[in-house]
Amino acid sequence: MSSSAAMQPQMDLSAFQFIIATVDEQVGVIQLNRPDKLNAISIPLMIELVDCLDWMDKSDDVRCIIITGNEKAFAAGADIEQMAKATTMEMLLLDQFARWDRIRKIHKPIIAAVSGYALGGGCELAMTCDMIVASETAKFGQPEVNIGVIPGAGGTQRLTRAVGKAKAMEIILTGRMVTAEEALQCGLINKVAPVELYLEEAKALAKEIAAKPPIAIRLAKESILKSFDTTIEGGLDFERKAFYLLFASEDKQEGMNAFLEKRKPQFQGR
Ligand code: CAA
Repeated sequence: MSSSAAMQPQMDLSAFQFIIATVDEQVGVIQLNRPDKLNAISIPLMIELVDCLDWMDKSDDVRCIIITGNEKAFAAGADIEQMAKATTMEMLLLDQFARWDRIRKIHKPIIAAVSGYALGGGCELAMTCDMIVASETAKFGQPEVNIGVIPGAGGTQRLTRAVGKAKAMEIILTGRMVTAEEALQCGLINKVAPVELYLEEAKALAKEIAAKPPIAIRLAKESILKSFDTTIEGGLDFERKAFYLLFASEDKQEGMNAFLEKRKPQFQGR
């Protein structure tokens, strides 16, 4: 066993109750699995999702991750049943959104493959991913005002950055649903596909990214995300250091040698 294999964390993917996780051709797919509740994001579901993402982030077998739901719902929001009786102090002490911060820290690229409802926390989960591929039937929205609250898992921030102030105001203040076509036009999502094909499209995108050098992909993702919370000066400095850092990777040498030798590179993630 190689030292890297010895460090591989163990995970029984069949033990989950609220998600279905698989790995194929270096793409990890996590399907949210509470179909009778339109995949409403309960705390147990979130615990499993984050545990699985953590494992996939560390596994050498995974280079890109997809989070998906089913044809009817990606996720219809945080679990309203759980929140209905909660008090302020319970919410504060529970600090359930801390778990969402873990998703933000995942190094590998995450693609949301969305069909049907992506509402409230469901839309926020899709926006926490790095890219969104949607089916023609996808419906995005932040309907929290309809139940007396506001988005609590990043919706006011991420939607505004994705679509701009005017559109974010309209979507959040009316709570209306946005079709896949409108979401594409306003820059919220990457691609729309027929419902039979959206997951295949997401997998094709994931495999394309999985074939690239993993450390360059990781640092490219980090640098892009950095642009959301720093000045242009700070962002350019970060990018430059990340660029220089890659000159220490074997994959940089392999990529450049392969180009010069006119052959296909074999990237090892080192
Ligand atoms: N939480 C808990 N249960 C939910 C749910 C949610 N967010 N969304 C749907 N469900 C449940 C329903 O209660 C129902 O369960 P039962 O069969 O046991 O009654 C089941 O899923 C099917 O839902 P509907 O019968 O309502 O299905 P529909 O097709 O008639 O309507 C819908 C679909 C328009 C999406 C509707 O379910 C709906 O409006 N859901 C709530 C959407 C919402 O408000 N999301 C925001 C939640 S708050 C939040 O997410 C906060 C945050 O920022 C993190």
